[in-house]
Amino acid sequence: ILACPAYPMYRYSWLRDGAFCAAALDAGGDPASAAVFHRWVAECVLAFEAPMRRAIEAVAVGETPDPQDYLPCRFSEAGVAPTGDGWGAFQMDGPGLWLWALERHARAAGAAALGATERRAAALAAEYVCAMWRRPSCDAWEEHEDRLASSTAAADLAGLLAANRLGLELGGMQVTVADMRDELAARAARVGYLPRSDGDDAVDASILWCGPILGVFHARDEAWRETLARVEAELVGPDGGVYRYGADTFYGGGQWPVLTAAYGLACLGRDGSGDRERAEAALTWIEEQRDAGGLLPEQSHRHVLAPARLPEWQARWGPVATPLTWSHAMTVLLAQALALAERA
Ligand code: BGC
Repeated sequence: ILACPAYPMYRYSWLRDGAFCAAALDAGGDPASAAVFHRWVAECVLAFEAPMRRAIEAVAVGETPDPQDYLPCRFSEAGVAPTGDGWGAFQMDGPGLWLWALERHARAAGAAALGATERRAAALAAEYVCAMWRRPSCDAWEEHEDRLASSTAAADLAGLLAANRLGLELGGMQVTVADMRDELAARAARVGYLPRSDGDDAVDASILWCGPILGVFHARDEAWRETLARVEAELVGPDGGVYRYGADTFYGGGQWPVLTAAYGLACLGRDGSGDRERAEAALTWIEEQRDAGGLLPEQSHRHVLAPARLPEWQARWGPVATPLTWSHAMTVLLAQALALAERA
């Protein structure tokens, strides 16, 4: 599932984007297409088995793994990982999010839907997550490779919980899950909400995945409520879209449909009672971003945080990526959740 077929820089399939897209296919009633994606990812992961095992072994004996042995964050249509373009390929949220989506798929399509290839790749991904999750890696925005983002730790925790539900027995998994929970709880206890990373106390909207979406924080958890309130106060824009983080300058730093949908989902799950009005407003904002052909962009140009930086990105990479596949996927997840809430 390419991130954006019409945008040369994004003609790749990212594990992160793809995981949410597969979840949307399952939620939207197309598990057969989700199955094709999961088989393709499983094959990509297994093609990296030898290097991933070398990385796992290095960590086990206290050595630093060779960066060449990391699982890449994205693959071309042919399943090839690009090299040498300076892109921060080590992004530890990818394998965690893939495991999370795979388990949702097993629930949507039936456990028998996972073949030996998917199960073998899932076991390898879970083992890799156990070994590697603490290492600093690029965050969801492919920045700050020297830090451990909270959304990355949460994605890996969600991935291991999913692996456990899939019945994958891994020695040490329970201990790792407890370590991950402790790490996130300690961060929240220190500042009262979930900060962006271990090196930055600002909030970042990728944190929105950690609540009802990934199920890492309970909707009634005090720290989660405070996190959501901070995102609301600091990152919801004047017309209701959601920014990535306060200092964003990418294409001027606009509001993102993927995050506005995540915000809507978080509102819908708020405190157990739900905040339907805000969730609906989030969906309305996203719908307003569609172009004449109904396509959604990566971000909106209205109310950008750093207008002076917009032309530089347009000159470098062209118009903002449209259609961004996971913008559509997250919108489907929000629309589906709203429809289910309506029926409940
Ligand atoms: C985003 C990533 C995303 C990629 C492809 C980047 O600009 O920061 O989160 O995976 O685009 O959509």
